[in-house]
Amino acid sequence: MPFQEDFAVEQFMDRYETGISYNLGETCCHSLTLAEISQLSNDKPFQLDPDMRLTYGAIKGSKDLRTLIAGLYGVQFSADNVLVTNGAIGANFLLYYTLVGKGDHVICVHPTYSQLYSVPKMFGAEVTLLELSEKDSFLPNLDTLKKAIKSNTKLIIINNPNNPLGCVISDELLTSICELCKEKNVYLHCDEVYRPIFHSLPSGVTTPRSAAQIYDNAVVSGSMSKAFSLAGIRLGWIVSKNAKLLRDAASRRDYNTISVSMVDDAVAQYALKNCDAIVKRNYELCLENLKILDKFMDGNADIFQYVCKPQAGTVCLIKVSQIEDTLSFAKFLAEEYSVLTVPGETFDFPGTLRIGYANDTKDLQEGLPLLKSAYTNWLARETVDGN
Ligand SMILES: Cc1ncc(COP(=O)(O)O)c(C=O)c1O
Repeated sequence: MPFQEDFAVEQFMDRYETGISYNLGETCCHSLTLAEISQLSNDKPFQLDPDMRLTYGAIKGSKDLRTLIAGLYGVQFSADNVLVTNGAIGANFLLYYTLVGKGDHVICVHPTYSQLYSVPKMFGAEVTLLELSEKDSFLPNLDTLKKAIKSNTKLIIINNPNNPLGCVISDELLTSICELCKEKNVYLHCDEVYRPIFHSLPSGVTTPRSAAQIYDNAVVSGSMSKAFSLAGIRLGWIVSKNAKLLRDAASRRDYNTISVSMVDDAVAQYALKNCDAIVKRNYELCLENLKILDKFMDGNADIFQYVCKPQAGTVCLIKVSQIEDTLSFAKFLAEEYSVLTVPGETFDFPGTLRIGYANDTKDLQEGLPLLKSAYTNWLARETVDGN
């Protein structure tokens, strides 16, 4: 069996997520009920057709659903450009299962959701991490990327908006990355699971297009979980203009998915018909919650600082003064204060916590002050232990 690293971020969240009171670790825009979707959009309530026969359904996802997903990417896309998967996690896994193996070289941005580099490694690819650093505003450096490309580089992996940093690759930089991939004949995977929640772009910066709109050999992954608040239906997708890639992925998918639940397909269709209302709600939720987070950060600037001011998506990393072992601090927060954050160690970024700020506003209002109390008590404890 190939070696597979533990998925640190998922394991940490799984350990605490259901038992805590204040969830500042959540990456989804506050999850919705079906009743709330109908209230948001004034649509009639969702109803599952009781006469729907529960077969495997359409193997690639129903045509209606794939057409709705294609609609998120513009008129150049149709149902044929879409393959439905079990969440973006299933989409990413399927893509690497399809594209990479022993002898291939892959370049992946870092930090990011670690699935994006650990699964290609597990499939036998040689993986180069493209470090996102402060001097480049935590964006891919084009020269470093160029230099990292080798004769056997098959795939470049980026994540826009980025988890955990919350920063955004601009349309200009994305276009340059696509041009480079085209010139070197390399596939591009862009994990776009936080699209289209671009709520706080710096002035003058426009919303970047999807990589699939720019480059024919780009493939993007997305899902209903984050921007559409429906992680409970486990429904994601890959989208590309490359028909052969989609055919190959569909053929691999027969081995691990067959099809996605017909019930999930029906719920996703209902939500995507009302996607404008959902995205508007989530955009406003992020802006409102960020005001609370910004105020907290301003008031405690001696303790907590943004690694990168959040521009989009639902998460950001914050530095914690004087604490290098944020893994132990995050456990202390969860166990003693019932507050879930995610330690930066799960992204190879110790000394930081990842904060998800798109959950229920109440979680931020009540959880953030506890973060401060926990910090004070943690340092006091260390002093006592030190004595
Ligand atoms: C960047 C990224 N990709 C993919 C996923 C998986 O999302 P899902 O499978 O719920 O669609 C996540 C979840 O946190 C993520 O942050």
